[in-house]
Amino acid sequence: MKELVKALEWKDEALYLIDQRKLPLEETFVKVTTLEECHGAIKDMVVRGAPLIGFTAIYGMVLWIKNNRQACLEELNKAADYLNTARPTAVNLEYEVLRIKQMAVEYEGRFDAFYPIIEEHAKAQMQVLADGNLAMAKLGADELEKRCGGGKLNLMTLCNTGWLACGPMGTALGVISHMHSLGRVEKAYPSETRPYLQGIRLSSYELTKEGIPHDIVVEGAHSFLLRNKMVDAIFIGADRIVSNGDTANKVGSSSLAIVAKHYGIPFYVVAPTSSFDLGSETGDEIEIEMRSQDEVLYCGGTRLAPEGATAWNPSFDVTDASLIECIICEKGLIKPVNKENLLKVVNS
Ligand code: MRU
Repeated sequence: MKELVKALEWKDEALYLIDQRKLPLEETFVKVTTLEECHGAIKDMVVRGAPLIGFTAIYGMVLWIKNNRQACLEELNKAADYLNTARPTAVNLEYEVLRIKQMAVEYEGRFDAFYPIIEEHAKAQMQVLADGNLAMAKLGADELEKRCGGGKLNLMTLCNTGWLACGPMGTALGVISHMHSLGRVEKAYPSETRPYLQGIRLSSYELTKEGIPHDIVVEGAHSFLLRNKMVDAIFIGADRIVSNGDTANKVGSSSLAIVAKHYGIPFYVVAPTSSFDLGSETGDEIEIEMRSQDEVLYCGGTRLAPEGATAWNPSFDVTDASLIECIICEKGLIKPVNKENLLKVVNS
């Protein structure tokens, strides 16, 4: 998927983030010049999507080092730990922050010298994301050909995993975009993704910009489409994949996977290796972010629920490994999904 508008840009030693809260109605940018502002932008979902949260966090650390060149390692570690608290479920955040903590050890007392190094590291990571996304898109297309044949397909997704969330092309949406470039998409079905509406606002925005035919569906329509064979395969992203293959992704993923299993529709997870948490054994260990009930009770600033009503708003859920046909990462396919296969591919 082409990045027709920049999701973010590093310019004149500041980070500019497209404000994803305002899309698709407004394409405006938020300027970030400190680690604290970066923390706020991630927490408030100016920027979102696991890989891009991780990438933005790298720039949060770049900004901190730029603003604190005389600081010591202990202070850097404290700042890094604070940044890590912005959102709990996407493991990419702690993955990138930890890497910078490790790199910083060599520059203890010399953060002046570390600054250009870390700035270069940040720039290089966008290319890493782009290369990984393209590799996953090609693997996904090959897998689809084996599983569903070479004709045009109807592909469903949930939440937003395009360039706004994952770097050039995207992950799960990247597979759909790549399939479209091969002339192999009949129709995409992005799910609305209540309550924050990443599907209707962001995936449809990206699909529209790229001219990919699609119909938005509400989550309640999943079973109807799958039962009536209107969908050939489902692709979702991941915020955290643990050793046994259990996968945390936007809430609603798990129920979609259960329905897909029931009707025999292949359910794929597409995510870079920075989304894997090999320190956790099963999905029970994943911290699920609980978000404000107002995201459920209100829509676009208008209260939908009666005064006095309350809501419960988990942002993610865990899809059991047994429901996933295959996990696609840039290093290859994990199929069938089990610990042995997962470790073999991720550590290769
Ligand atoms: O809460 P968000 O919007 O940051 O959620 C992340 C997601 O977009 C999804 O869970 C996605 O499918 C995996 S990350 C690209």
